[in-house]
Amino acid sequence: MFQERREKLFESLPEYSISILMAGKASYNIGDETHPFDVNRSFYYLTGLDNENLVLMLVKMGKVNQTILFIEPFDPVMAKWVGGKIMAKEASEISGIKDVRYVEQLKSTIAMYLNNYGKIHQFTLCGELSKQEFDQPWPLADLFNEVRKQYPDVLVKNIFENTARLRMVKEEYEIENMCKAISVTDAGIKAMMTAARDYIWENELEAYFDFVLKSEQCEHAFHTICASGKNATVLHYGKNNQQTKPGDLVLVDLGASHKYYNADISRTFPVNGKFSDRQREIYETVLRANKYVMEIAKPGMTTRELNNKVIEFYQEELPKLGLLKDGKTVRDYYWHGVSHHLGLETHDVSLPDEPLQPGNVITDEPGLYLEEEGIGVRIEDDIMITENGCICLSKDVMKEVADIENFMASR
Ligand code: GLY
Ligand code: MN
Ligand code: MN
Repeated sequence: MFQERREKLFESLPEYSISILMAGKASYNIGDETHPFDVNRSFYYLTGLDNENLVLMLVKMGKVNQTILFIEPFDPVMAKWVGGKIMAKEASEISGIKDVRYVEQLKSTIAMYLNNYGKIHQFTLCGELSKQEFDQPWPLADLFNEVRKQYPDVLVKNIFENTARLRMVKEEYEIENMCKAISVTDAGIKAMMTAARDYIWENELEAYFDFVLKSEQCEHAFHTICASGKNATVLHYGKNNQQTKPGDLVLVDLGASHKYYNADISRTFPVNGKFSDRQREIYETVLRANKYVMEIAKPGMTTRELNNKVIEFYQEELPKLGLLKDGKTVRDYYWHGVSHHLGLETHDVSLPDEPLQPGNVITDEPGLYLEEEGIGVRIEDDIMITENGCICLSKDVMKEVADIENFMASR
């Protein structure tokens, strides 16, 4: 699988090129602590390896492709403190890469290609840089600067588009893992709805989700949002440290991650199990927007177009809820986008103006946020684009008012 992905990437790379992808390094936190290590997802996608400080090199010499993996040497002292590093044999078995060397050889390997062939062929040095990384210190930058000083003719190319294009179309294996993540997320939400009661603290509710996740050997896809009452009107509220009030709606936006494949689901339910009339009419409007997106999502559309359709839908619907008065616009009650790609990253790599195509997995997440009334509703499903439309991967996560009320009444 990883080899096939690398071959596909090779096809899109410049003819004489050296592409370098790094697994990354845990960033410093505080004292003698680092943040937990989180592997660069394109590196993982192409190798299946999730260890720190590994480097993948793809060398394209005309029609000949060469793949090299660089690993760290075994360190007996570190092995006693934090465990051993991955050894060549295991790295090779997982990734299917036969040529495994040590990171100390990275620069000399680049130099070997440029010294021997750089005078005959124009080489391109390729690395991946996402939009978010542009203003961050780029780990590859120092290496690239050093190489360019020695070899001023070498070109440099960002291959973000190349890797994104591959990662945007999900394989069956990837869909299976996302479905597993979704079903664990579903179980976690049910555990929260089962435990919900007046005056429960948001973080206690969150803990029911966490228990299910860990019990299923999953990780968090992202920091859980568990927001009651007015807190739900703050889009990325993540403190989850307030006590619920009787009659509050609780908005949860959360996801399990299974083998690095993420779910991203939002549900909104009454803490006491029963929607008020006002909560219900707002909820039903968001639910209709959520279903409308699934009706129209199909190949050829862009996520931007989907969002514009939702805004048009709300333009018609919000006056019926007594909203859009005194110069207020839809964007006062709904200010985010309705969709993003989902996969190895929660906000997965994408090319924003690229039309959707079969195999894309995106979210469908309309919301309405009424700060004055202390009501925030978001309903988020994960959908896969097919030849003719889309299918909802999270269709089993309950969202009908009657289903939620019946479930909570029968606890
Ligand atoms: N959980 C973040 C989002 O829904 O996009
Ligand atoms: Mn979400
Ligand atoms: Mn989302």
